[in-house]
Amino acid sequence: MDEMLKVVGGKPLRGEIKAQGSKNAALPVMAASLLLRDATLELDNVPNLKDISTMSDLLRVLGATVNFQGNRISIKIGDQLSSETPGALVQKMRASSLVLGPLLARQGRAVLPLPGGCSIGSRPIDLHLKGLVKMGATIDLVHGAVHATTKGLSGCRIYLDFPSVGATENLLMAAVLAKGETVLENAAREPEIVNLVDCLRSMGAEIDGEGTGVLRIKGRSELNDASVRIIPDRIAACTYLLAGVITDGNVTVNDVIPQHFDSLLAKLEEASVDIESKDGKVTVFPSRDKLKAISMKTLPYPGFPTDVQPQLMSVLCLAEGTSVIKESIFESRFLHASELKKMGANIELQGNTAIISGASKLNCADVVATDLRAGAALVLAGLATEGETVVHSMSHVDRGYECIEGVLSSLGAQVKRFEGED
Ligand code: UD1
Repeated sequence: MDEMLKVVGGKPLRGEIKAQGSKNAALPVMAASLLLRDATLELDNVPNLKDISTMSDLLRVLGATVNFQGNRISIKIGDQLSSETPGALVQKMRASSLVLGPLLARQGRAVLPLPGGCSIGSRPIDLHLKGLVKMGATIDLVHGAVHATTKGLSGCRIYLDFPSVGATENLLMAAVLAKGETVLENAAREPEIVNLVDCLRSMGAEIDGEGTGVLRIKGRSELNDASVRIIPDRIAACTYLLAGVITDGNVTVNDVIPQHFDSLLAKLEEASVDIESKDGKVTVFPSRDKLKAISMKTLPYPGFPTDVQPQLMSVLCLAEGTSVIKESIFESRFLHASELKKMGANIELQGNTAIISGASKLNCADVVATDLRAGAALVLAGLATEGETVVHSMSHVDRGYECIEGVLSSLGAQVKRFEGED
């Protein structure tokens, strides 16, 4: 069945919402539970999302007891775990690869079918594997699955060719149970990595340098019960603020850490959006009439996040002048552009660059969400059109947004979910 969202746009959004917990912080923290033995990890502020259920199922199949109630998850790990991750779950979500490092470090063996996920490029895991080999793992590829084994991981110096978020998380978790010190250079600096370090430290790990490009981890043989609060979701917060901007509305997102999305706030100011940011909340005010074109490039944190590029593109379709977006993280992350063009957007693609000539309005259309953030971008575009836009394949959007239609309705949007034949 196709999950669809009917969006009747043309109305400014107004009101206040609370940021959901971060999906991309919760997933690696959940995977980190696999480092434990006869211990429990408690998480608070976990968003209720499809990807979180997929990770819970994966942990259960591996032998964990997972209890998810409200926004709290408790993960109990006993003495025995399986080392084999089932292909069906791994194919649903690329972040399943985050179990590789902790499983290998704890069990000495891990089998992982090559992961699926959003259709935004080839997304290899070579940096994860190269780092694990440097720590003493043997990796074989058998029938499309990674078979990793080790007689014990050892600390070492690992330089990442690119500050990959997932590779940093996997290697950081593996290093926590390795013998001796690991130094991870050119590591990712995303706030989600800092949240993972908070969790690992609460388990008893010794780690320095989170939020910088160099992480130092002293391995330990045993860890303890732990609890951690998941940080607010900066990507979802940015999406709802952009929903305010695109409808020329007045939207406040509460319970956020504004520094986590300074790059977006700086770009919005450059585009002449009126913003107020104080005491953990950010408000955008009506200013679309004077919205100016801007240029930007996606980069690793603290640069502009690739996960907000599609939503910003929707907004720039209505800015005055020509905007330029360069996507430097993923090679095919402009799938939303052809759908936006169906709505009357003027977008020209040249390789990893999109040139957007601002239009005075967008038209309603039937459009398809090709991945999670592309889907969010199309919902935003729909909110700016007069008439009825239908966004198909909303299941992609549900991977990352906790009841998006409920949140938008609470801001006054006219949105309705329905199901139809694929
Ligand atoms: C994470 C986020 C995702 C976000 C991305 C970049 C989660 C669950 N997902 O994904 O939402 O878009 O960071 O901010 O946190 N690469 C390699 N080899 C590797 C690993 C990565 O070439 O071994 C490349 C990828 O193909 C991509 C780039 O590095 O082009 C960035 O990937 P990475 O930072 O690893 O993203 P993910 O951890 O997959």
